[in-house]
This record gives sequence, C-alpha cells and structure tokens, in this order.
Amino acid sequence: MNTKEALTIIDRVLPNQHLSHIQELVFCQSWEGKTYQEIADIAGYDHDYVKEIGSSLWHSLSTSLAERVTKKNFQSVLRRYEERSKLDRKGSNLDRISSEPQTSVAQVEVSPKVTARREDWGEAPDVSLFYGRTDELTLLEQWIIQDRCRLVALLGMGGIGKTALSVTLAEEIQGGFKHTIWRSMRNPKPAIETVATLIDLLSDHHKTSIPETLDASISLLIKYLQKHRCLIVLDGAEEILRSGDYAGTYLNGYEDYGQILRRIGESQHQSCVILTSREQPREFTLLDGSRVRSHYLRGLSSGEGKEIFAERGDFYGDEADWERLISYYAGNPSAIKIVVCAVQEFFDRDISRLVDLLNQDGLVFEDIKELLDQHFDRLSEAEKELMHWLAINRMLPLLPEMSSEMLSEMSLVRSPQELLTIVNSLRRRSLIVKTSTGYSQQPMISEYIKSRSITENS
Ligand SMILES: Nc1ncnc2c1ncn2[C@@H]1O[C@H](COP(=O)(O)OP(=O)(O)O)[C@@H](O)[C@H]1O
Ligand SMILES: [Mg+2]
Repeated sequence: MNTKEALTIIDRVLPNQHLSHIQELVFCQSWEGKTYQEIADIAGYDHDYVKEIGSSLWHSLSTSLAERVTKKNFQSVLRRYEERSKLDRKGSNLDRISSEPQTSVAQVEVSPKVTARREDWGEAPDVSLFYGRTDELTLLEQWIIQDRCRLVALLGMGGIGKTALSVTLAEEIQGGFKHTIWRSMRNPKPAIETVATLIDLLSDHHKTSIPETLDASISLLIKYLQKHRCLIVLDGAEEILRSGDYAGTYLNGYEDYGQILRRIGESQHQSCVILTSREQPREFTLLDGSRVRSHYLRGLSSGEGKEIFAERGDFYGDEADWERLISYYAGNPSAIKIVVCAVQEFFDRDISRLVDLLNQDGLVFEDIKELLDQHFDRLSEAEKELMHWLAINRMLPLLPEMSSEMLSEMSLVRSPQELLTIVNSLRRRSLIVKTSTGYSQQPMISEYIKSRSITENS
C-alpha cells in the first residue's frame, strides 16, 4: 500500500475530519518511516509541535477504530482495517447474490475475532518513539504466545524502559487476546480491589456481585482467565514492595498481592499477566519455571542510544565516544534523555567533551541523582554498606574467592551467608551485575555512590 492509498483509508476512517496540510504531511512522512525530528526538519517546524500533531492524529484514529493506534503500529492497523473492509465488501456482495439469510461472510468469519476484542489501556503512555529491543520483543512474544507463560516479570532499574516495553509488547501481541488490560500500580489499591476491578473489566461490567473474600474473588478472576485468553499488564509493582528490607517483600497491607500472583502462576488458564517492577517480587523466584518467568531488561546499545539523541538534532563525537557515553549510563533511556539535555545545554552538542569529563573526574547530573536516590533510599542498611564497598573496590569476586578480609571491612555484613543474601537482593534490584569474574556496579552507579558519600561526609 502506498501513501496515497493510505490517505484514502484515512478519509474513510475519519469521514468527518478533513486533514489539514500539516496533519497530512505528518501522516505521509510517518508512513514513509520518518521520525518526528526528520519531519520537523523537512517542514521547518518545531519537533514538539510535529509530535503533538502526530499524537492527536493517532488519538483520533484510536477512537474511530476502537483500537490503540500509535506512530509505530498505525501502518499495520490500517492494513488490517483495509483487509477487513475488503472481506466485508466481498461478504456483502455474496449476500446480494445468495438467497441465504442476510448474514455476511465477513460478519461470520471476521467479526467474532476482531470486534469482540476488548482493550483498556488505562494511563498507558504513548510510546511512538521506541528504539531497538527487537530481540527482547521476539523472546517475550515467544514466552507468551508459544510457551503460554501465565506470569511474566519485566525487571530493571528505574528508567531502563520497562513501562515502554510493556506497552509496546502488549500493542504487538494484543491481536491474540480477547481482552487486553494495562494498568499502572501507582497509588496502588488493596489487592482485593484490584481483583474486583479486573473482574469488572473482564466481565464487560456485567458482574455486579463480587465475592467478599479475597480467596473467592481470585477464584472468580481465574475463571475469567480460563474462559477467555486475556492479557493483563500491571505496571510498576515496586509500589507495593517494601523498602529498607531485602528485595521482593510486600509493604504492610499489600501482602495479599503475593497470593494473587501465586494463584495466577499456579492455576490452569489460558491468559497471561505481565508485571513490571524495579524489584523482583518473591513469587517469581518461588514459582520460576516453564509458565512463570522473569526477564531483566538490558540497556540500549550505543546505536539505539544515539537515536534518542538524534530526536533532538545533530550531536558530535566519534564512535568510541558514543560507546563510552551510552555504556557509562548503562544504556538507560531515562538517563540518556537527561544527558541529551545537558549536552545540548552545556557542551555545545559535542559529546566528546562530556566523555572527557566522565573519564577524568566523573560527573553526576542532578536529575540522574534523583533517579538513583529513589533506588538507594529503598535499600537495607547492609545493602547500602555493600554498595559503598563495591563503589570503592569495584569488584566483588565470586563465591570461592570471597574472603573473610572483605567481611572484616564491613560492619553490617557479618557472614558469607549474609553476604550472599545481600548480593542476591541487589541483583534482584538490578543494582549490581554479575560478570565471569565477579559482581560489579555500572559506572553511573559507582560515581553516584561516591558523590553521595562526599555529600554525606561533608
Ligand atoms: N526503547 C526505547 N526507545 C526510546 N525511548 C525509550 C525506550 N525505552 C524507554 N524509553 C523512554 O525512556 C523513558 C523511561 O522509560 P520507562 O519505560 O518509563 O522506564 P521504566 O518503566 O523502566 O522506569 C521514557 O521516557 C520512555 O519513553
Ligand atoms: Mg515504569
């Protein structure tokens, strides 16, 4: 389908909305695969303005097609729409020549699959600008579609892209589910209320009486998960987990979520619940196996990180500088976005000047400090001690080489057993990484911890 044909479909999908010149331009250039920045450059508009035009267009299409439409998926949505329309047209032609009762082929063959689907995206963010992660999307799709996982955790530090990946993944695989529900766990409700909300949505608001006990409510929820193939995303589960303790334990009053996860993971049904979290909830280690799996998000590659910079125009630096910069920030898209603004503002778009500074003294931007404060403040005192030790010593060797000398340098970590528990907990929080020689921190984190000790001691 070419751009012109695509435009004629838009006329049909949005019959009352004549596209303005700029809307048409954004649509056509997006169809050609251009980024908002490229469109802005071509047309001489501001990037944010072009993005706003695009977003409102995808929004109108979403409303009209009763399906989530974004810059990333609008081509496949329109192609699907066109195929459906062709089938519909063929169906009504057949109806006209046949003397059979007036049911179109399209209604019989297509409608139950397509129109019976329900989506509820809550406050899911717009993720039209999403780079890379193709391997991860393929892997997760395989887990959910082929391997029929019932519970999947997407784990990683704040800003690494869990929310964006969960939305992109759900958009890509939603066609295989009758219901798609995306919910943020910000300001979390008690477990029993969340179950009631899910039952209400999955029953298309028909279920008026919800059982009083949590146990019975979960049983009813599971009935719905058995009856239809449903995809439920719960985003930001760290909100129900406790800080100051080892990773994965629940906040007071939210322990019941453990029971929900356990039963969804253990019971027979045809649905999938995806949870995103900065920390791995206990159930995922206890149940881990063929139907319950966890995936720790990797950082973006330097090429993908560069694309985030490119949204804001041209930046300068050689390949080695780009590699160093993106790996320093562990490919964390949020951190990269902060750095883009700083390089634009303070380094004249020349990344090599920032890289020089990172190589010499290290540098922690205030916004990155805030991002990492959120993680650090959640740690137990013993975890903080080990993080400080690692920032200075760089590497904690693997088990046989962990020596009593190391323990003597720490006051809160008293035995090898305790050390292992702490290492495990920090791994579940994505704050340390395991290599073939030992455990270490990302440079951005070491630098942050050092700067924190300086502030605390001064
Ligand atoms: N693959 C990606 N490509 C481009 N931007 C991304 C990507 N992943 C995340 N982002 C952006 O980075 C920021 C942080 O991502 P988010 O998904 O909110 O992280 P998390 O949920 O892990 O805290 C958001 O602005 C998001 O749009
Ligand atoms: Mg998030």
